[in-house]
Amino acid sequence: MQEPSLTELKELALRCARSAGELSLKRMKEPFQVEYKTSASDLVTAVDKEVEKHVINMILERFPDHGILGEESTFTGDYKQFDTLWVIDPIDGTTNFVHQQINFSVSIAVYYKGEGLVGAVYDPSRDELFYAVKGEGAYLNDRPLHLEKVVTLEEALLCTSVFWNKRAEQIGIDQIVKKLAGKVRGMRLLGSAALEMSYVAAGRLDGYVSMSLNAWDFGAARIIVEEAGGKVTSMVGNPLPFDEKSSVMACNPAFYEELQHYLNLSDNTEKGS
Ligand code: IPD
Ligand code: CA
Ligand code: CA
Ligand code: CA
Repeated sequence: MQEPSLTELKELALRCARSAGELSLKRMKEPFQVEYKTSASDLVTAVDKEVEKHVINMILERFPDHGILGEESTFTGDYKQFDTLWVIDPIDGTTNFVHQQINFSVSIAVYYKGEGLVGAVYDPSRDELFYAVKGEGAYLNDRPLHLEKVVTLEEALLCTSVFWNKRAEQIGIDQIVKKLAGKVRGMRLLGSAALEMSYVAAGRLDGYVSMSLNAWDFGAARIIVEEAGGKVTSMVGNPLPFDEKSSVMACNPAFYEELQHYLNLSDNTEKGS
């Protein structure tokens, strides 16, 4: 079977992202079931599952020989058997979806043999679609995104996901991040990694750091940040995997080395795996 073109993949990824976002907004206005996945701080709703199924149906209807790696595991095949893999998070920021009813997104990425080709992150509440195609640049709706402005760490608005948990304490990175907070212009936490990383690509935030994210959280946004001219690696500087967990740092390239130096002041390398 002939491989689909980048244009075909992009067209479908963008259509899926918009359609999934519209469905989640519609369902948000009706009562929906909320369950605990592993604890009270790890929620999943009936909407997460329905939206994931909806996206999978759209993909398989067009490309029945593609694989899917989605957070809610509603794709039943073994994703490792496929050269072309769609990595999807139907709702990134489920806690925000339930509580704030804003600041959540849909994340859809296409990988071919582990290489990121297309990334789309859609914020339905604001009708903002961030997307990128490998080698063809990044966009917010139709506006090209370029990280041209040189930003120093002192001028940076940094976004970090939680660094006040037990593991962060054990490896001492909570103290490093505290010190970092005193150096940068300001710290923010939005609650949707895909959206936060997309904001880095758009220059609304200058950097994003997380100790641990799943492949579906960063799969699309890492392509968008890279295509906008940003730098994305794990906290110890490794390239991000396409189907595994990793720590993540995404930022304006001007202060990448300095930020990385800060994050690795503790000699325990476990944090940046
Ligand atoms: C979560 C969000 C959050 C990040 C968590 C993720 P979910 O995704 O991206 O910002 O800090 O690590 O699990 O579960 O809402 O899709
Ligand atoms: Ca989740
Ligand atoms: Ca997520
Ligand atoms: Ca999710």
